[in-house]
Amino acid sequence: MHQMETINRRTWENPWSIREYGRSAGFLDDGERVAFTLALEHGPKRVLDIGVGGGRTTDLLAGGRDYVGIDYTARMIERARAKHPTLRFEHMDARDLSAFAPSSFGLVVFSFNGIDSVNPEGRLQILQEVFRVLAPGGQFVFSTFHKDWEGFADLPDYRRIEWTVDPLRLGFRIYRYVEGGILKAIRLRRNRALEVHASDHAIRMHAAHDFGIMIHATTRSHLLKQLADVGFADDPDLFDREGLRLDAVWHASLHFLYVMARKPTVS
Ligand SMILES: C[S@@+](CC[C@H](N)C(=O)[O-])C[C@H]1O[C@@H](n2cnc3c(N)ncnc32)[C@H](O)[C@@H]1O
Repeated sequence: MHQMETINRRTWENPWSIREYGRSAGFLDDGERVAFTLALEHGPKRVLDIGVGGGRTTDLLAGGRDYVGIDYTARMIERARAKHPTLRFEHMDARDLSAFAPSSFGLVVFSFNGIDSVNPEGRLQILQEVFRVLAPGGQFVFSTFHKDWEGFADLPDYRRIEWTVDPLRLGFRIYRYVEGGILKAIRLRRNRALEVHASDHAIRMHAAHDFGIMIHATTRSHLLKQLADVGFADDPDLFDREGLRLDAVWHASLHFLYVMARKPTVS
């Protein structure tokens, strides 16, 4: 089993990640806005929000529906519960959704490329479990990285020191920046060697979280085959980050994309 899972779990459990995901709010971009809006227009009564983190997507998806958020990082679930005390959150791994009955959700979401942080065996188990708990005609909305994104070759460093007049805060931010630089150097040395480059998919380092995650990235053919093998309809809606429908050719500027996969009404 690929070590990516151990690396990523350590990052999700890090207090900085809990803080970051606990604070984030609103849509990530227009692609997410379009995908969520279209999915909710189908009128799902029951929604499962996988990898809910600190609950960013809760306000975007719950809205009077029967909503459940799950995450396998216990402290993320604590954060989400604290933010939304009246809603249901469960500490659960998406590989095993046996707590939920078959065909019991109209919409399942796994946002912000969370499915890409799972190893390839787990990814397949999650697709199968999501398919099982979706009602016929129900939708699975998720985002996923594009294998041939140009940024993977020379990972862009997102780290910045945000200016503030408060000397204590500034000192702390400089400390975090330097610490992040050290972590980046260590992780680039250690984790580059773990990358997998197949023709139709890859496992690669990503610059997020001080280069602290390894992600699964896909191609159009790999994605469509995986979904079809599990039983999803073979014409998923695919959007870029601007919310525009993707052509058959995915360009190198495409970092990640939004997928709306449908469970056929007659299987
Ligand atoms: C990139 S964060 C996104 C958090 C949140 N969805 C957001 O958009 O702000 C990915 C989240 O997925 C969770 N996660 C990853 N693999 C999971 C799995 N197999 N089952 C449940 N949660 C998982 C992580 O713990 C983390 O909280």
